[in-house]
Amino acid sequence: MNVDLLIRHAAQVVTPRGRGPLRGAAMGLLTVIPDGAVAIREGRIVAVGPTREIEAQITEAAEILEARGRAVVPGLVDPHTHLIWAGDRAAEFEQRLKGATYLEILQAGGGILATVRATRAASPEQLMAETRARMDRMLLHGTTTAEAKTGYGLEWETERRLLDLLHRLNAAHPLDLVPTFMGAHAIPAEYQEDPSAYVAVLIEEMLPTVAAWRFAHHGLWCPPWEDGRAAWFCDVFCERGAFDPEQTRRILEAAKDLGFGLKVHADEFEPPLGAVPLAVALRAVSVDHLVSTPPEHLEQLARSETIGVMLPGTSFGLGSTRYAPARRLIDAGGALALATDLNPGTSWCESLPMMMALATRYMGLSPAEALTAVTLNAACAVGLGHEIGSLEPGKAADLVILEAPDYRHLAYRYGVSLVHTVIKRGRVVVQ
Ligand code: NIG
Ligand code: FE
Repeated sequence: MNVDLLIRHAAQVVTPRGRGPLRGAAMGLLTVIPDGAVAIREGRIVAVGPTREIEAQITEAAEILEARGRAVVPGLVDPHTHLIWAGDRAAEFEQRLKGATYLEILQAGGGILATVRATRAASPEQLMAETRARMDRMLLHGTTTAEAKTGYGLEWETERRLLDLLHRLNAAHPLDLVPTFMGAHAIPAEYQEDPSAYVAVLIEEMLPTVAAWRFAHHGLWCPPWEDGRAAWFCDVFCERGAFDPEQTRRILEAAKDLGFGLKVHADEFEPPLGAVPLAVALRAVSVDHLVSTPPEHLEQLARSETIGVMLPGTSFGLGSTRYAPARRLIDAGGALALATDLNPGTSWCESLPMMMALATRYMGLSPAEALTAVTLNAACAVGLGHEIGSLEPGKAADLVILEAPDYRHLAYRYGVSLVHTVIKRGRVVVQ
């Protein structure tokens, strides 16, 4: 067999296995291959195994990478980000340190609404430059695919611009983006007196327009699994002060009828509003946050097809010591993914290894479970479990070579990047 790239003599090659999410105890079952190798042809993995066995199958390798002393893991997948916005909220961060709460700031017209004002006012060039810098940082921390939500427009003109820019960035940057339409991120200032009118605009105007929109006309490069849809998923922030459960249900049902995959921001704050049973009933792909989710709802989630996405960076970012009950979800047999929630309010962090560090300490995950949660299960949470998330023949050759001999260092060490090399679709993009 001829290959384009052979990575060999890795201290270990480590991966979960499968195309669907790992649930319950299976989340901790990684394959660890000492002195491992990965062979890549035309952007895909063709063989994974001990170096001696893989070399015996290869007649010629156009390029060889020696990974001696370094562990190799799948490219990380971030299944929940609010990637595209303008400006920052450093002043609010300081207010919160002095005692103001996140929901109080939002109710006073700040929070998400402050970023909406900055985003509406920004030029496409500014938005592109700020977002690209975040994508660069994500890649440097080992993320090779990320979900990216709109939701700082909250009016068609700006939401449209955000989707357009996400597609341009996707085409121009090695990081692959999976776009989510989140027009239901907050009630915009102009509809504060009549939120149901905004819900009607979302259902009757924005969602059908997004659903019908294809990006093929750009003529830009698209990942092979992409069909040019403007957004794959629709997400709603179901919370007091944002969308109530009935509004959430109406938006999600309309989105489902239009062919969107569904995601929900559920139980980020108190009190829980019942968004988890709603998401499960609508067969959402994921339900995210889950900090205040009651045990019976977590158990219902564990028995469903819906993946729980937990966001420890948000608890940490808000200075809270209350983390989502990951252990309960896994022990009940559920599938868990972890994400950064990258956004300017609650969690400005581009690093999934930082999420692994938090989840192992505060959410009871083992390092192996944490790796599954940011690779295979995260890939499934964005509908791409068949394509990415593990190192197996047939999958895209997205992988990370660590400046560490053992995958556990990803969770064990923190505050610095342990990423040595990033390979995206068989190409070295960070070295
Ligand atoms: O997931 N909760 C809603 N969205 C984000 C916060 C966005 C913001 O504060 O700008 C979250 O925490
Ligand atoms: Fe979020």
